[in-house]
Amino acid sequence: MNLKEELQNLRLRVSQQIKQVKTLKELDDIRVEALGKKGPITQVLRGMKDLSATKRPVVGAFANEIRDILAMQIEEKKQTLERQALNDALAQETLDVTLPGKKVKRGIRHILSQIQEEIEDIFLSMGYKIVEGYEVESDHYNFERMNLPKSHPARDMQDTFYISEEILLRTHTSPVQARVMEKHDFTKGGLRMISPGRVFRRDTDDATHSHQFHQIEGLVIDKGITMGDLKGTLEFVIKKIFGEKRQIRLRPSFFPFTEPSVEVDVSCFKCEGKGCNICKYTGWIEILGAGMVHPKVLKMSGIDPKVYAGFAFGLGQERIAMLRFSINDIRYFYTNDMRFLRQFARL
Ligand code: PHE
Repeated sequence: MNLKEELQNLRLRVSQQIKQVKTLKELDDIRVEALGKKGPITQVLRGMKDLSATKRPVVGAFANEIRDILAMQIEEKKQTLERQALNDALAQETLDVTLPGKKVKRGIRHILSQIQEEIEDIFLSMGYKIVEGYEVESDHYNFERMNLPKSHPARDMQDTFYISEEILLRTHTSPVQARVMEKHDFTKGGLRMISPGRVFRRDTDDATHSHQFHQIEGLVIDKGITMGDLKGTLEFVIKKIFGEKRQIRLRPSFFPFTEPSVEVDVSCFKCEGKGCNICKYTGWIEILGAGMVHPKVLKMSGIDPKVYAGFAFGLGQERIAMLRFSINDIRYFYTNDMRFLRQFARL
């Protein structure tokens, strides 16, 4: 048998094997065996140096041709096998479109956001506008314009985080009063606004203190506003929040930016005023600070206190929520324990 016939037979045999092969591994074995370094074709090509000069190119060309044909057949089979493997995998991955979907957990509004929105709605219904202030404030608006000059002892209760001597994290929402008053166009009527937001104090966190909490500021300025307006407004709002049966009580107090100033109490909603641990057996619960805007504060904002008067109040959102839901630790609001937050899913 000459070389040519040998190669011819090899081709037939290997082609046959390729046809019958079932796996990529088997196919690769065949490739290595037939075309690899130790394979018969490589052997033939190596042995060519012993051939005569006339035979050498003929045999060489033939051997190359056989090698190319086999390589091509192997490649084709490889693609077929790969396609099959993919189809098999797809066939196994059946998709049952009737299966129920994965449940997406729905979030809920944070209890403080809910309280804030509820109070905003009450004031919106009375024609107030909602104003946003700045959490980073200046000493000027946070203190000076609120009638708390640098030496004022009341500043001690409102120590805060200073960014520079002049820039600080606001200690209350009251600076929004000054910012709104100085811009308001009184030729178009009086001013009624609330401003909810975050405030900061240098406090050590415990069950009843937080270095960061939320207030809602309220401000009404117009001609002829009296303390009667303040009391009527707060009574209306507090009844909306704590129930129609509630009564309010004003006690004299002090704030540098209001004169007179009052502390507002609500009759205890737990014991109806009889005395219990929530109201500390007094029948009353303190809920906010308020007062008539100090003439000096009006003047500093360019408002004539002989023509205009107004009232202001500031309430703590956490305090309202804690009282209403008997929450005994302020830190629950901020630590994002879902067991706590989820209790307010259906309010
Ligand atoms: N700014 C006061 C505080 O944070 C609350 C307040 C606001 C009192 C408006 C009176 C009028 O304690």
